[in-house]
Amino acid sequence: MLCLFWFSVVSTLLTVLKNRGYLQIPYFSQKYPPVKFLSEKDRKRILITGGAGFVGSHLTDKLMMDGHEVTVVDNFFTGRKRNVEHWIGHENFELINHDVVEPLYIEVDQIYHLASPASPPNYMYNPIKTLKTNTIGTLNMLGLAKRVGARLLLASTSEVYGDPEVHPQNEEYWGHVNPIGPRACYDEGKRVAETMCYAYMKQEGVEVRVARIFNTFGSRMHMNDGRVVSNFILQALQGEPLTVYGSGSQTRAFQYVSDLVNGLVSLMNSNISSPVNLVNPTYRSPLSIRSQIQFLPEAQDDPRRRRPDIRKAKMMLGWEPVVPLEEGLNKTIQYFSRELEHQANNQYIPKPKAARQKKGRPRQHN
Ligand SMILES: NC(=O)c1ccc[n+]([C@@H]2O[C@H](COP(=O)([O-])OP(=O)(O)OC[C@H]3O[C@@H](n4cnc5c(N)ncnc54)[C@H](O)[C@@H]3O)[C@@H](O)[C@H]2O)c1
Repeated sequence: MLCLFWFSVVSTLLTVLKNRGYLQIPYFSQKYPPVKFLSEKDRKRILITGGAGFVGSHLTDKLMMDGHEVTVVDNFFTGRKRNVEHWIGHENFELINHDVVEPLYIEVDQIYHLASPASPPNYMYNPIKTLKTNTIGTLNMLGLAKRVGARLLLASTSEVYGDPEVHPQNEEYWGHVNPIGPRACYDEGKRVAETMCYAYMKQEGVEVRVARIFNTFGSRMHMNDGRVVSNFILQALQGEPLTVYGSGSQTRAFQYVSDLVNGLVSLMNSNISSPVNLVNPTYRSPLSIRSQIQFLPEAQDDPRRRRPDIRKAKMMLGWEPVVPLEEGLNKTIQYFSRELEHQANNQYIPKPKAARQKKGRPRQHN
């Protein structure tokens, strides 16, 4: 009995020391990435909705390694347990399978609200669900923030600018969005999510932060998200022609995921409650790439030109992207190659599902 008691005391002590980075026994130090020790005063309880997705899992890594207690909430619509599996079992980490459309009752200090499909094939697959996630889901998270006095950061998007008529786009621009087009479930969902944040701020005193995120790429991104970076990498690695939609004269800005994560954390811990663009402003047109190209019809409501203005983030957060496009692309190409190797045995790469539609005659709009 006494033996058992001492065994459990020693093993608990070793686990605590190992999690706080004091122990370097090979077996123990291999299990989790190193985690800083933060005093109780500095350590925060942080909720990340959509934390098993592409951006959310990198944000989880940063906040865990900084020494915070992180709870990831995800319904695994587009996220994967594999993205956060290296933290499962760590005393500072919790993974909850939960849909944000349902209320959540936990105690937290900060909420990074990322839950929402992000790529066109994923958010157009079930537009009603995308709307519910961005509206009811955001209301639920703001309600939680109000109840526990937490600060909430909304992962908004450059899509709130729609197909912009003003260049470059700074945060004062109200946007140019088609409210009944195929992308509206996402664009308008995010616009109303921003509106909800400011209603809760003004009416209830909830502290909010709004990040308008532009195209982001890096490891763990969805290989079949239908966007230009993943399309081109996958096609190039598989020796297929690169597909360009429309004339190919569209422009986009891209940022590497580690830059975005640093921007999100800076914004959360700043005193800036108005929206902030987060992106690398160097912009490119797909036609600047020399390769065999196949032209396809333009997608409806696809923005023709994106040219972000990030002066606000630079001046007010002291943040700017540091990873050059080429360096980020090389890391991402390595990730895609590894994933393709994993899948080589069954030659299976999941394709995006076609949008859900009821059979029969489409209803007329009045
Ligand atoms: N990646 C980008 O380029 C980009 C650009 C602009 C904005 N954003 C925003 O950043 C956030 C994260 O994007 P991402 O690229 O990591 O996408 P992602 O699809 O990889 O991650 C979204 C996560 O949210 C989860 N989720 C979706 N609906 C949910 C629900 N109802 N309840 C709980 N979890 C739910 C998914 O399972 C997934 O894990 C999104 O809000 C997105 O709109 C991303």
